[in-house]
Amino acid sequence: MTDIDELFRNNRTWAERVRAAAPDFFEQLALQQRPEYLWIGCSDSRVPANEIVGLLPGEIFVHRNVANIVVHTDFNCLSVLQFAVELLKVRHVIVCGHYGCGGISAALANSDLGLIDNWLRNVRDIQRLHAEELADIDSHDALVNRLCELNVAAQVANVCDTTIVRSAWARGQELSVHGWVYALRDGLLRDLGTVVSSADEADTIRRRPVAPVER
Ligand code: CO
Repeated sequence: MTDIDELFRNNRTWAERVRAAAPDFFEQLALQQRPEYLWIGCSDSRVPANEIVGLLPGEIFVHRNVANIVVHTDFNCLSVLQFAVELLKVRHVIVCGHYGCGGISAALANSDLGLIDNWLRNVRDIQRLHAEELADIDSHDALVNRLCELNVAAQVANVCDTTIVRSAWARGQELSVHGWVYALRDGLLRDLGTVVSSADEADTIRRRPVAPVER
């Protein structure tokens, strides 16, 4: 029995369990998906979107990358956002970072990890924007955690500034963008209080201070 065989065995067990609870679950799901949420989160294996918010397959559309970054030239992320907003008509976009994020930590450490350092430059830009506040934080862990929060707030603003979200609001489509942080140590989500539901709110979001959240 190889490790890979185990995954197939797990899959069969899972599918049987789901079918036992809802016999036509897969048949119904195969017809269409109607998720109300788009999750933009970190690739970290400890932060699985569906499990954390207790949603079944079909209920949340997901995009994940290292350090949950939304870059305006990233066609991968933008395509997911466009499909979710314009075709699936999700009502909520959730940007979810997590405390102790390895990507944020590597960015802070000015690491030498290869290609990914280019990606993490986006985090260093946010670090530089908040250099004054971050200079007062002594411990590395606290610094990482605060930058995790500031990164989420910046990515919420980036989502709000896309033509996709701006056009949705201009059409009168109901859409809110949320910033959350997940704590690995207790499995609980924290709301950063940066929810944005209109172009007017989005225009002020980058100037709004991001209060540290209790961890
Ligand atoms: Co991470």
